[in-house]
Amino acid sequence: EKDIENKLPLKDKKILVTAGPTYEAIDPVRFIGNHSSGKMGFDIANAAANLGAQVTLVSGPTHLKTKNSAINLIRITSAEEMYHACHEYFNEVDVAIAAAAVADYRPKNVADQKIKKNDASFSIELEKTKDILASLGQIKKNQFLIGFALETENEIEHAKQKIQKKNLDLIVLNSLNDAGAGFGKPTNKVTFISKDFIIEPQDLKSKEEVALDIVNKIVEHYA
Ligand code: CTP
Ligand code: CA
Repeated sequence: EKDIENKLPLKDKKILVTAGPTYEAIDPVRFIGNHSSGKMGFDIANAAANLGAQVTLVSGPTHLKTKNSAINLIRITSAEEMYHACHEYFNEVDVAIAAAAVADYRPKNVADQKIKKNDASFSIELEKTKDILASLGQIKKNQFLIGFALETENEIEHAKQKIQKKNLDLIVLNSLNDAGAGFGKPTNKVTFISKDFIIEPQDLKSKEEVALDIVNKIVEHYA
């Protein structure tokens, strides 16, 4: 009995994870997106499920598959769809981790038909998408809420601002500056910052190892 508890420390926990990019339609054949592979979010979902958590993974377009068959995978396309899927599950989870690279803007109007190249120049008016993580921070009760931050300057200061603005318990700051870290790479250089602003820089690690470190933060929180 005790043995199983030690091996499956997240046995009674429900965890929501977001992953991947979002695609924002321009017309029936085009979209605005980004290069997120979804790997970080999928690795977190797998690591949490392997420790016994009941995981719901809300993912934007990616070719990845889940490794643990217990994961409830919800595939969505746009930020709006990710927002609704997250709100469907958030009230019943203990932990939420936002690893998705959500598009910040979307076309204000989506054309019904393919846009023809009639004019010499062309522009698209964009509007902000909903901030999914901030919306969860606004309604959170006891949930342990983890966000990511991608910054290129004043990294720590900007990440601290995101903790406060989005009402987070922990933020994982991604350093793009370090060689070997970031989009499409197998490795990440991250810094953990808690809501009390305790700063813990981590070594350059594989995304699987970073996922394990994040899941261990959750285990520690409930220990
Ligand atoms: N996020 C989200 N919904 C959005 C935008 C971001 O849930 N519409 C989440 C991301 O999943 C991440 C965190 O918010 O966990 C921070 O994302 P980031 O892009 O670093 O910050 P933004 O708040 O979008 O601000 P900016 O891009 O201007 O730095
Ligand atoms: Ca952003």
